[in-house]
Amino acid sequence: MKKILVIHGPNLHLLGKRQPAIYGKTTLKQINAELLKIAKRRKVALTIKQTNVEGEIVNLITKNKHRYQGLLINPAAYTHTSVAIRDAIVASGIPTVEVHLSNIYMREEFRQKSLISGVAKGTVLGFGPKSYILGLEALIDII
Ligand code: DQA
Repeated sequence: MKKILVIHGPNLHLLGKRQPAIYGKTTLKQINAELLKIAKRRKVALTIKQTNVEGEIVNLITKNKHRYQGLLINPAAYTHTSVAIRDAIVASGIPTVEVHLSNIYMREEFRQKSLISGVAKGTVLGFGPKSYILGLEALIDII
């Protein structure tokens, strides 16, 4: 069975309570439950992690490069700043799909740049929790 690593970046543990006008009222637990349903239906195994720490994301990606065949990641605020996460994705060679709840290109200028998109197989953004669902389906299709 193919294995996929799902990483939720900083502040995403607050989903549901955090700026609901932008990020919606769905909690991370609810998003994860939906992802696990898809995984069951599509017969893939998911490992789901949330961390607020950039280096932990780098470790998760690089230390597990032989364990997982795909990476679904919402790098959250690190999207816009993290050369380290971008480099980790390249170094691991794990096919990666980047997701965002909000459409970062409709938001503040500092969010309108992703350092991750250029090394991801694809990016899904702007559809709220559905971005994760579409992203996971697409990732399963390509691996
Ligand atoms: C986000 C967008 C980022 O700009 C922001 O820092 C987040 C969430 C999104 O899913 O829309 O924390 O990645």
